[in-house]
Amino acid sequence: MGVLWFLFVILAAGKALELKNQQYHQMPQLFQLDDYEKCLANGRGAFCLGSFNLVAPPNNRLFNVIQKISEERYNFNHTRIHRGYCVSSRCSDVEEVSLRRKFVKCVKNITQTHHGFDAKLSSLDYCKTSKTPPSRPIDGLDVAFIYFSGLILLMNVIGTIYDFARNPDHKPNRYLITWSLVESWKRLANSYESGNPRLTSLNPINGIKAFFMITIILAHAMFALHSSYIQNPQFMENASRLPLSTLFQNGYVIIQTFIMLSSFLLAYNLLINSEKDPKKGLTLRSLPRVIFNRIARSVTIDKPLIWRIARAV
Ligand SMILES: *[C@@H]1O[C@H](CO)[C@@H](O)[C@H](O)[C@H]1NC(C)=O
Ligand SMILES: *[C@@H]1O[C@H](CO)[C@@H](O)[C@H](O)[C@H]1NC(C)=O
Repeated sequence: MGVLWFLFVILAAGKALELKNQQYHQMPQLFQLDDYEKCLANGRGAFCLGSFNLVAPPNNRLFNVIQKISEERYNFNHTRIHRGYCVSSRCSDVEEVSLRRKFVKCVKNITQTHHGFDAKLSSLDYCKTSKTPPSRPIDGLDVAFIYFSGLILLMNVIGTIYDFARNPDHKPNRYLITWSLVESWKRLANSYESGNPRLTSLNPINGIKAFFMITIILAHAMFALHSSYIQNPQFMENASRLPLSTLFQNGYVIIQTFIMLSSFLLAYNLLINSEKDPKKGLTLRSLPRVIFNRIARSVTIDKPLIWRIARAV
């Protein structure tokens, strides 16, 4: 009897899933993107990108379903659709001089014809022709960033070559050796085995911190997916429901815990260091150095994110 119930539940769940899938594909596609390069390659090509809110007659069944699906926690909002159309070819039959109006009419027409919904422009990102100059020309800051990144890479190459070429019996040059990838890896994976027992006992905490760091980098890598037009949003939505995805979604908790652990380790290390030199002790003068070390470390770990924040500011 138990087995029968089990089978029944599985079958019912399968049926429900199939139904959901069918409903899902009745919705207007969330993202639609024409080929931008191909569009503008034509001298008279024009490309527009924007978001639209769906508007339906009252008590429309499909629209109610869309609203319901959109309310689910891990789903995208499917009542707002995103379109990037090559208006010059896709909407060639719409008679409008203004690109913006042509685009809006075109999306309205297509949504109306295929799904029976009206579409109201909520935001227009841009309309471009091949003659439009790039909206964000490469500026001095961009170039500085590229040089900065290149410099770090170059130092890594030099440091690593130095590490391989140096005489292992001699004391290495500390400025060059810090850039060596091999040496850095050794230091990263080192667990203070032979060192200070007070630090060794903190190994588990350092381990947890390293694990958090990996999830933080992964979560930031996911930003790219959530801020772009994706072909198959359903995959992302389903993936977000997997238990393992909680690692990405509970970022606030992880960041807070991470900062607490880091601060604890920092304070602990500072106290130990100040013991070495009891005369100097712990003064405000060490603050700039601590802050500099912190910035230097986070900048290299999460450069793309910091860059995004800097650009946004
Ligand atoms: C989805 O977007 C529409 C239009 O911007 C908004 O009115 C609605 O509240 C959003 N729904 C959810 C569940 O966020
Ligand atoms: C959409 O455009 C076609 C072709 O111009 C036109 O025949 C049709 O009536 C339009 N549909 C709507 C809903 O505007």
